[in-house]
Amino acid sequence: MVPVPLFYRVLEHAYTTDRSMAAFLYLGIFGTLALGMALFAFQQLSVIARNDRVVLVSSQVGHVEKPFLKVIKKYLASTDDMNFVEIGAGYAKITRIAATSFQWKSIIAVELDFFAVFVSRLKNRWKKLPITFIKSDIFDYAIPTKSVVYSYMSVPVMNRLLENNAFENCLVLSLTFAFDGVEPTDEYQVKGFQKRLYVYDFRK
Ligand SMILES: C[S@@+](CC[C@H](N)C(=O)[O-])C[C@H]1O[C@@H](n2cnc3c(N)ncnc32)[C@H](O)[C@@H]1O
Repeated sequence: MVPVPLFYRVLEHAYTTDRSMAAFLYLGIFGTLALGMALFAFQQLSVIARNDRVVLVSSQVGHVEKPFLKVIKKYLASTDDMNFVEIGAGYAKITRIAATSFQWKSIIAVELDFFAVFVSRLKNRWKKLPITFIKSDIFDYAIPTKSVVYSYMSVPVMNRLLENNAFENCLVLSLTFAFDGVEPTDEYQVKGFQKRLYVYDFRK
């Protein structure tokens, strides 16, 4: 482990020769580390409390990956003529899985929370996946027809979007939350408390 003693010697040298330079180095290094850790904790914590409401901005998606990929492979002979849209994308974890697993016509993550969109865009600066991150209320956004829409949003949100004809000619995958009064085309077992991935094939 050469870098650690080297790093220590640089700091020691700075400390013995120029105290203000050493303070500057210490502050820079530990300040950056602290900021990075705070951002990481904030993202992992996933729950943001705002005034009187608590919004879940992200969930773990490892256990959803398998059924998600299974559905795409079963329902789509090819994906390159379809758009992929994650609505209420949070940190766009499923979007990244979709982007690395298949070729799409376009890949879009729509999210209301500014910070989540900011972090997702930042992460993608070095991942460089062909994802468009849109900071918008989903009710102000027109989902392109011929899309695979992935959602982990509530029943009232999904029902309202359906009433607005938001899913025209789309294949909708909804984690946990089923539409009221619409029989799913398919359902998949998901591990953990989320239990089900509902599939609605609205394609013509
Ligand atoms: C349960 S999280 C799901 C996050 C991510 N899709 C996942 O599976 O981990 C729901 C997300 O929807 C976002 N959201 C809630 N209402 C929204 C709206 N009207 N328009 C866009 N996003 C919304 C929240 O900010 C939150 O990030």
